Amino acid sequence: MAETNDQYLASERAAELIRKRIAPHTPELGVILGSGLGAFGDALGDPVAVPYAEIPGFAQSSVAGHAGRLVAGLCGKRTVVAMQGRVHFYEGHPLSQIVLPIRALILAGCKTLVITNAAGGIRDDLYPGDLVLISDHINLSGQNPLIGPNDERFGVRFPDMSTIYDPELRVLAHQQAQAEGIDLKEGVYSWLSGPSYETPAEIRMLRRMGADLCGMSTVPEAIVCRHMGARVLGISCVTNKAAGLGGKLSHEEVAETAGRVRDTFIALLSRICSAIRESQ
Ligand code: HPA
Repeated sequence: MAETNDQYLASERAAELIRKRIAPHTPELGVILGSGLGAFGDALGDPVAVPYAEIPGFAQSSVAGHAGRLVAGLCGKRTVVAMQGRVHFYEGHPLSQIVLPIRALILAGCKTLVITNAAGGIRDDLYPGDLVLISDHINLSGQNPLIGPNDERFGVRFPDMSTIYDPELRVLAHQQAQAEGIDLKEGVYSWLSGPSYETPAEIRMLRRMGADLCGMSTVPEAIVCRHMGARVLGISCVTNKAAGLGGKLSHEEVAETAGRVRDTFIALLSRICSAIRESQ
């Protein structure tokens, strides 16, 4: 059991440092910012930034567009702790390392996490620049962050994933999008490990399976949130048509599209974070 104890202790150690460094802010809401979407963290009031390098157990992302720091600050009356950058499974880190920051944020006090990402659009009505609420996911990676001995301090051995993306928070997100005049769609996200993009044949398979979006993140983080009883909201920014449905895929296009929706994304996320109540 030494390994599971280590993961809990490592998460607690990181949580303790976060709490200390961002005081007098007290964490309420965690936000994970996907590729090219980090600017939300710069829009927080009274910001306090902590580089990942200074948080025990946090890995540094090697991907362009991921700054690698935590920013705590105010969004309306809520205290948000935003991760500007995340590590991905394809970077070669074990999943335990990828989910450590999520577990740390929850142990530090975040009861709700908003997980964002850049994604390929599979469904016909999804275009680059669209913002899509994640209604459910399909895990095609063959991986799961809960594989290994279960530590009951995190959660139960077989956690229920029937409503992984909180239905009430989704209603709230749609209300806030409507109030802001933002067209917020909804769809099923599929996770493949990457780092190569999918093939057109894989995208045809994903479409038949019921996937609307594809990407290389979010799913392990969402699983760990549910395991620990934290509420999850997922938002994808469609940065490109999935393989075979448009042109060639590139990280430059992903970054460029994410940059283009920056202001809309910040407006939506700010409204959502301000509106979330702990009882919701
Ligand atoms: N596939 C996987 N991950 C992605 C994509 C994609 O098309 N776009 C942005 N992230």
